[in-house]
Amino acid sequence: MKLADRLDKIKPSKTMAVMALAKDLKEQGVDIVDLGAGEPDFPTPEYIRDLATKAMADGYTKYTKVDGIPELKEAIVVKLERDNNLTYSTDQIIVTSGAKQAIYNAMMAVVNEGDEVIILSPYWVSFPEMVKLADGEPVFAELDPKRDYRRTLKPFEEYVTDRTVAVVLNSPSNPVGSLLDDEFIADVIKVSREKSLLIISDETYERITFENKYKSIAAYEGAAELTLTVNSMSKTYSMTGWRLGFAAGAKELIKAMSKIQSQITSNANSIAQKASVETLTGDQSAAEMMKDKYWERRDVVYEGLSNLPGIEVNKPEGSFFIFPDVSAYYGKSLNGKSINGSVEFAEFLLEHAKVVVIPGIAFGSDNNIRISFAAPREEIKKGIERIGEALNLLN
Ligand SMILES: Cc1ncc(COP(=O)(O)O)c(C=O)c1O
Repeated sequence: MKLADRLDKIKPSKTMAVMALAKDLKEQGVDIVDLGAGEPDFPTPEYIRDLATKAMADGYTKYTKVDGIPELKEAIVVKLERDNNLTYSTDQIIVTSGAKQAIYNAMMAVVNEGDEVIILSPYWVSFPEMVKLADGEPVFAELDPKRDYRRTLKPFEEYVTDRTVAVVLNSPSNPVGSLLDDEFIADVIKVSREKSLLIISDETYERITFENKYKSIAAYEGAAELTLTVNSMSKTYSMTGWRLGFAAGAKELIKAMSKIQSQITSNANSIAQKASVETLTGDQSAAEMMKDKYWERRDVVYEGLSNLPGIEVNKPEGSFFIFPDVSAYYGKSLNGKSINGSVEFAEFLLEHAKVVVIPGIAFGSDNNIRISFAAPREEIKKGIERIGEALNLLN
């Protein structure tokens, strides 16, 4: 069998080696603290599971319209108005199998071969790979850690060429948890208007913010017509396995995305769609409760890491990730084995602290590791303590 050339362009996941090692150790009964998770540790709230049971009993088990059931699209319109101060009509909405599929549909709809898409770095692992799958070129715009990853190192316009067609924003972000700066966003909007760029705003973590509430990109002046707002049930409601996301934007783009989706997955899961109607429009206290827990844990993990020598850490304003710079330890060693990058650092922590973290290189930054605080508070405390003890062994 000959596989397509396309596969050579896509990176295999660098996180897999560490995860596979962690799995082996767990199976051997080793007490591992897992701070690698990319999803909420809470079960899906019971009332949401009940909504799905009812949907199934009521027969919502068939194909739906490609762009989603009308009552869910209406619920999304209500949600976007209520939480984000955005006004859309139902023909500006598409329901997808997760935010991931919404972003992929969008890339396939706007990127031609050789077109460039600007991605802020550190980035969520799938953004560049999706651009490449659409035959485009990802262009990385590095975020400035000295300014809490709230804006890029260089002025935004310096990343734009005459091949640029889109920019992806992700605030609060995976992996750094930062909220983008208002001034930077205004700059992105200004340049995007001048150069007719599409802004793809991945707002997956929008409801998991702490001191400051999130403001949707499309709610900034001049941005509404340029922006595709992408969101998901996955993180807000702990519904990752349900595969339900959505996007809102210009009618023409939504129609193009539906055309693509119609030949790939048809529609998002019918039961998840039905259960999401009331989840979006009804009582929001379960989502708020989970948010408050992440906030408490954010404080624990931030304080714990700040007290470790040689670790530079930014305080996440949202999401459930923190992205410390651990490069002060590069060049150090234990028993003749030295650490020279984030993969070796993560392997060292797994071996000597029995803690799982994700190497930053997977997100475009080899000086960092990603720690997830979607884990119980006591586990987080234990993990940080163990990391501190293991770091003491290095010289
Ligand atoms: C930034 C970001 N966008 C999108 C997704 C995927 O979300 P979904 O489960 O809705 O496909 C994730 C999941 O990790 C993410 O971190």
